[in-house]
Parts: sequence; structure tokens; C-alpha cells
Amino acid sequence: MKKRTVIITGANSGIGKAASLKFAMEGHTVIMACRSLDRSSAVQNGIVAASKNENVYLEELDASSPASIRAFCTRFRDRYGKLDILIHNAAYIDHGSPHRVNDDQIELTFATNVLGPYLITILLKDLLAASDDARILNAGSNIIKHYFNPKLELELDNLIGAYTGDKPFSVYNSYRNSKMALLMLTFRMADEFKKDGIRVFNLQINGAKMSKETLQKFTLPWRMIARVQNLFFRPASFMAGIYYEICTSAAFSETSGKLINHRLEIMAPSKNNPGIADQIKQVTGAGIYPNYADRTDMQEKIWMLCRELTVPE
Ligand SMILES: NC(=O)c1ccc[n+]([C@@H]2O[C@H](COP(=O)([O-])OP(=O)(O)OC[C@H]3O[C@@H](n4cnc5c(N)ncnc54)[C@H](OP(=O)(O)O)[C@@H]3O)[C@@H](O)[C@H]2O)c1
Repeated sequence: MKKRTVIITGANSGIGKAASLKFAMEGHTVIMACRSLDRSSAVQNGIVAASKNENVYLEELDASSPASIRAFCTRFRDRYGKLDILIHNAAYIDHGSPHRVNDDQIELTFATNVLGPYLITILLKDLLAASDDARILNAGSNIIKHYFNPKLELELDNLIGAYTGDKPFSVYNSYRNSKMALLMLTFRMADEFKKDGIRVFNLQINGAKMSKETLQKFTLPWRMIARVQNLFFRPASFMAGIYYEICTSAAFSETSGKLINHRLEIMAPSKNNPGIADQIKQVTGAGIYPNYADRTDMQEKIWMLCRELTVPE
């Protein structure tokens, strides 16, 4: 297989770390984009040692900060000048935490999980367009199942953190909304980038064992729930293998703008008024997603919102 250059965000733990190892073992050039160089350099060294691949690099990136993203993309361009695969794996998942914003006063879940991937992609798009097989993978979640509820709407004001106080803030709900917005962005981006030959995918992750460090980010009740879930989840390396297949396999070289499940199947939208059977299928990741994600008006709104929020001053 042709050797590719891949960026993996949030590569110091969990699925991102396992995916970095997988790409390194297969001989590709891996850029681990992590927010703490201190905490991540031991992980990088471990991956270089295990894979015997010297082309594993560590770069600083805070995916919630437009300033950090711009600095990262400039550095990346100068140092590597080539990009084939961009994996938006990093996510703010700190269940139970209070309302937080980034330096631009944008709510942290939306800033990290939606706006960050958008801005990194836009800033590196020309490098991807120059690749002969460019692929973008967005890490999704089966938490979007809540959108089977026809009453649930993405509130774009709340996405940017207009916390009114009449509804209690919840990272869980923000995370749920961010993953739906990211899926919509996947579809919109795939349309936009078709002419450039860049393929865009979203993987619906329905569980992967979470590290001790990740569990520590949750407040106690959420940590207890996650510990129980962990008993049933597959190791992160399993999902890393799925990342690898989507980003390199010939099976995905002619398609784009799809939501893929952990069995590497392309998922389909639900019918209107989905019944309980559809919901059960969604929970088990069996192949159906809420057709709310196909609303092109909302896809366009999110695309435009991301554009407006990232216009340089
Ligand atoms: N595990 C699951 O069951 C599950 C289920 C559904 C979806 N997912 C998705 O899978 C992806 C990977 O999650 P995981 O389970 O592997 O969890 P994880 O080990 O906690 O990985 C998340 C990574 O994102 C990084 N990150 C968070 N905020 C960041 C920021 N502002 N800038 C740069 N990096 C940042 C974290 O770095 P720090 O160490 O610096 O915090 C960490 O490396 C996420 O997109 C998540 O939403 C996971």
C-alpha cells in the first residue's frame, strides 16, 4: 500500500492513541496532534518503539482554540507539506462538567467537536486536494440516537453557548448535539469537497473502552456509569482498526458523505416517524441513523455558522 501522511487529533489516549499505533505499524507517517506535549511525548515514544517507525511526530493542537488551530496548521504546512488522511478524533466529553467556553466565548463542546474539525479541515484543504486519495474521518457517536425523537431540534444559539439559565446546562446534551452537528457537517463537507476529490466519512462509534484518564474527566455519577459501560465495550484498538479501514481500504475509495458503523457498513437514514424497532437498531449500531441528519437546511446553517465563527479578524 502507498504510504500516507495522516493527522490524528487527540492521539494521546483511547482510540486516537490506538489508531496512531495502527497507522505507524503499517508504515505510514503519523502526526499526533495533541493539546499537551508533556503528557503526550511518552505516548509518542512508545508508539515509535513498538512500531519501529521513526515517522511518528507530535504536534501541539488545542482543537477548541482557533488560535492554536491556526498555529498548528501553519506549522504543519511548513514541516510536512503533504496530507492524505485527516482524522478528527479529539472530543470534549467531560460529562457532568459545568458550562465552559473557549477564548472566543464559544461553548467548549461545540468549539472542540464541531468548530475545531471545520477550521482544521478548511485550513488544510488544499493539501488534501493535492493528494491522490484524500480522506477525512470524523469520529461520531451513537449518542445521536436521541434525534429519533422528532421533537429534538439543534438549537444553534445554544451551540455557540448562549446559556440562558432557564434550562440547566448539560455536557451530555451538548455532546449529543455536537455529534449530530458533526454528522451534518460531514454530509455538507462531502458535497462541497466532491470536486476536489476529498472523501469525507463519519464513523458511528457505539462504545470503546475508556482510559482511566478519560474516566477522571467525568464527575462521579458519570464515572460510575462509564465504568459499567466499559465492562461491555471493546478495546480502543478495535475501533482504531475501523478508522484504518475507512481511511485506507479500496472499499471506501469511491464513496463519500456516508455514516459508517463499526461493522464497516454504510448506514441509512430512518423513515419518517421511526418506530421502536428502528430505535433498537440504532442503539445496537445496526445500520439506521435519525433522518434529521439529512436535513439540508440545517446542514447549510451549521456550515454557514462555522464559516462565520472562523472568519479571521
Ligand atoms: N469511547 C467511547 O465509548 C466512544 C463512544 C462514542 C464516541 N466516541 C468518540 O471517539 C473519539 C475518541 O474518544 P475516546 O473514547 O478515545 O476518548 P479519549 O481517550 O478521552 O480521547 C479523547 C481525546 O481527545 C483529546 N482532546 C480533548 N479535548 C481536546 C482539545 N481541546 N484539543 C486537542 N485534543 C483534545 C483528549 O486529550 P487530553 O488527554 O488532552 O484530554 C484525548 O486525547 C471521540 O471523538 C469520542 O467522542 C467514543
